[in-house]
Amino acid sequence: QKKRRDIMEEIQTKIIKVNEKNPEKDLISLGANVINEGGLVAFPTETVYGLGANGFNEEAVKKIFIAKGRPQDNPLILHVSSVEQVESLVEFISPEARILMERFWPGPLTMLFKRSSLVPDIITAGLDTVAIRMPNHPIALELIKKSGVPIAAPSANTSGKPSPTLAAHVMEDLNGKIDMIIDGGSTGIGVESTVLDLSVHDPMILRPGGITLEELRKINPKVVEDLSIIKDDKNIIPKSPGQKYRHYAPKAEMIVFTGEVQNIVDAINEYTYKCIDQGKTVGIMATEETKDRYKKGIIISVGSRRDKKTIAHNLFNTIRLFDEKKVDIILSEGVESSYIGTAIMNRLKKASGGNIKKV
Ligand code: TXA
Ligand code: MG
Repeated sequence: QKKRRDIMEEIQTKIIKVNEKNPEKDLISLGANVINEGGLVAFPTETVYGLGANGFNEEAVKKIFIAKGRPQDNPLILHVSSVEQVESLVEFISPEARILMERFWPGPLTMLFKRSSLVPDIITAGLDTVAIRMPNHPIALELIKKSGVPIAAPSANTSGKPSPTLAAHVMEDLNGKIDMIIDGGSTGIGVESTVLDLSVHDPMILRPGGITLEELRKINPKVVEDLSIIKDDKNIIPKSPGQKYRHYAPKAEMIVFTGEVQNIVDAINEYTYKCIDQGKTVGIMATEETKDRYKKGIIISVGSRRDKKTIAHNLFNTIRLFDEKKVDIILSEGVESSYIGTAIMNRLKKASGGNIKKV
């Protein structure tokens, strides 16, 4: 009964616009106050917007799960602004973790450590590891510093929906459910951080993201990927709880086409005609190099195949755009699963519910 009322209660969401390059310190203080009072603040990072709460305050962290409709068994990342802050949250920091921190922090690399007793159970969903990262964004760093605590923050979307890369996306999902949104413009990378498990023998990527396997291997050649990332087999259960769920999903049905680019274009064109015959509105997620080769449907270029970072940057926004245009089906081009393409394909796989066609 009581819980139900908590969920239904609307609150006034304050939106504050902050300069992303040179954040106004007094405005960030307002956000830090909300965090310290046990409230929820959405803020930009270099990957996607996060929904932050004081990581030491269980009641505040509970509100994250309620606002997002997030399953309780999905643990959260703690965001820090210094390496010293990590020391008290973990049992120990291995030399190989220190090397990775030095190279990739602040940045889109989340590492799993054996947790210390200071970390509340709700953060780790009862696991013995805790996920930690130092974001590379002036607003995020300033907010963590000012609040003086590690900030627990999942992506600031309703559970299951595409992650937010603009404050407007956060508004769409969470307006009336959280205390504050810090609008710092569009996030740079556009896909979430790489989740790397360092508590196992060979460091293992559980979620591909902003730091690529190739980059990690240059520093540590032993890094491997969880089998569920490499294989298309739905029977392989991912090691990371969050990877089990349907995620990033548009309202529309979605199919991803992979293979040679010309084959992809041909297959999408053919499929488009078939869908139009059935009376469906078709959205085509094309690229700069291919967008002129489609004649029918609502065609949006997600970025350039020559610079896949542009595709990552626009990916979630483009999926949301197709929903705004109320298409019935999204036909998306796939990209090669290397470098940032691994993260892009991982998100497309999840967004489509595994609906991948090799052509
Ligand atoms: O880029 C990002 O990582 C963004 C920004 C806001 O920092 N955050 C983000 O958080 O993507 P979230 O909660 O949407 O995704 C965190 C992922 C989930 O898949 C979760 O299951 C996994 O990290 N994770 C967290 N703690 C874990 C743990 N102890 N063991 C395994 N996986 C863990
Ligand atoms: Mg998320």
